[in-house]
Amino acid sequence: MEMGTISAAYIASAVLFILSLSGLSNQETSRRGNWYGIIGMAIAVVATILNKNVDAYGWLIFAMVVGGAIGARVAVRVEMTQMPELVAILHSFVGMAAVLVGFASFFDPTLDLYGVEATIHNVEVYLGVLIGAVTFTGSVVAFGKLSGRVGSKPLLLPMRHQLNLGLLVLSILLGWWFLNAGHDGGTLPLILMTLLAFAFGVHMVMAIGGADMPVVISMLNSYSGWAAAATGFMLSNDLLIVTGALVGSSGAILSYIMCRAMNRNFVSVIMGGFGTTTGGGEEEGEQGEAIAIQADEVAALMSDASEVVIVPGYGMAVANAQHAVSDLTKQLRDKGVNVRFAIHPVAGRMPGHMNVLLAEANVPYDIVLEMDEINDELNEVDVVVVIGANDIVNPAALENPNSPIAGMPVLEVWNAKTVIVSKRSMATGYAGVENPLFFKDNTRMLFGDAKDSVDAIRSAV
Ligand code: TAP
Repeated sequence: MEMGTISAAYIASAVLFILSLSGLSNQETSRRGNWYGIIGMAIAVVATILNKNVDAYGWLIFAMVVGGAIGARVAVRVEMTQMPELVAILHSFVGMAAVLVGFASFFDPTLDLYGVEATIHNVEVYLGVLIGAVTFTGSVVAFGKLSGRVGSKPLLLPMRHQLNLGLLVLSILLGWWFLNAGHDGGTLPLILMTLLAFAFGVHMVMAIGGADMPVVISMLNSYSGWAAAATGFMLSNDLLIVTGALVGSSGAILSYIMCRAMNRNFVSVIMGGFGTTTGGGEEEGEQGEAIAIQADEVAALMSDASEVVIVPGYGMAVANAQHAVSDLTKQLRDKGVNVRFAIHPVAGRMPGHMNVLLAEANVPYDIVLEMDEINDELNEVDVVVVIGANDIVNPAALENPNSPIAGMPVLEVWNAKTVIVSKRSMATGYAGVENPLFFKDNTRMLFGDAKDSVDAIRSAV
């Protein structure tokens, strides 16, 4: 394929990626946005394969068949609740690819660059490998934490900020050595920096506590974008640069939005180890006794109410209860009850998790409200039903400055007349923090699997 045609194909792909991102920003257009992305990526892959510089078709087909088969198998088998860990491990692939391309590009014997050109290329290699290595190990640790293979408690080494600063200074010094050492002497500083960056990635994510993991995922998403952009520079591939920049900047914007939603400081997130400095993690002692309730009593309360708000959380996803919840909503609305949903920005295990589940179950968009839209109205609500949520409705975030989640905005469900919490036990949520909501006078606990509980309420309604 001629270079002109390839450039045109790349521009078409870039435009489709931008349309895809704008489509994905709204539930109603997200399906279309997804298609734009798929078509854009298909055009990009075909144009890249048909580039006249590509000749190792045997290897290419082998890699695409093996990679495609693994990808398809994983995509079919993955549960919705495992998506964040899948995303994390996929980010690690981008990171590793950037490291490998960086080394390959550095050792490429066909590259004959001198003077400024050589320096620019070496800077690209150095930055690409640096960002890629941090992304790789950071994402692997994030995968471990999200899948429960690594404990979610933050690892707080003594003098960790000084350690991070030391690693940064060392990387800069190694970069200076690398750029001045010439081609043959550059191997050692490049390898040393890669090892340091691997260690930094591990340390950065190990230091982050469970409740702050969502921000880390979107931050690693951003890092993986910048790693891809750096790879694009090394390979002189404009589309990879554009795509990497789109992923990098959208991930950074998402991280910022999530930090704001969780009242965390963006800079301390980037430095790692945040969310643990708020208070000493001391929780309040014995809380009293929780009062249980049965499904038929909940059904009566909901049927008699005029305003009901449902707060879905991770447990609703685990129990696959969204369809039952949607049916219950329809039943109650038919009876004249005003049912609405309140969505916390980090409910579930990935951004927009609850919105996707509710959309899949055909809950009308206009009754699904964001936390900020509904929090002030919760005191006028008769019944709030919390389904499989915990951290996002924890009053300790506002009331206990020593709580590990202190300062995080939460849905203030306790202001409603009655709060029903549907979960299986008194266990804590993802952040591992006790929840005083369960012991409030107006709270009743509906124990059991969320799907079974909602089905029982539906039958009684
Ligand atoms: P969590 O605080 O994790 O609470 C979920 C609750 O669901 C648990 O307490 C669990 O209690 C219950 N549950 C689990 N399986 C259930 C089932 N089958 N039926 C009924 N209940 C069930 O969830 P949340 O309130 O949605 O808060 C989200 C948390 O995850 C936050 O800490 C957030 O920071 C973190 N996080 C979020 C993201 C993103 S981006 N959204 C990513 C990673 C982490 P039982 O075991 O007693 O049933």
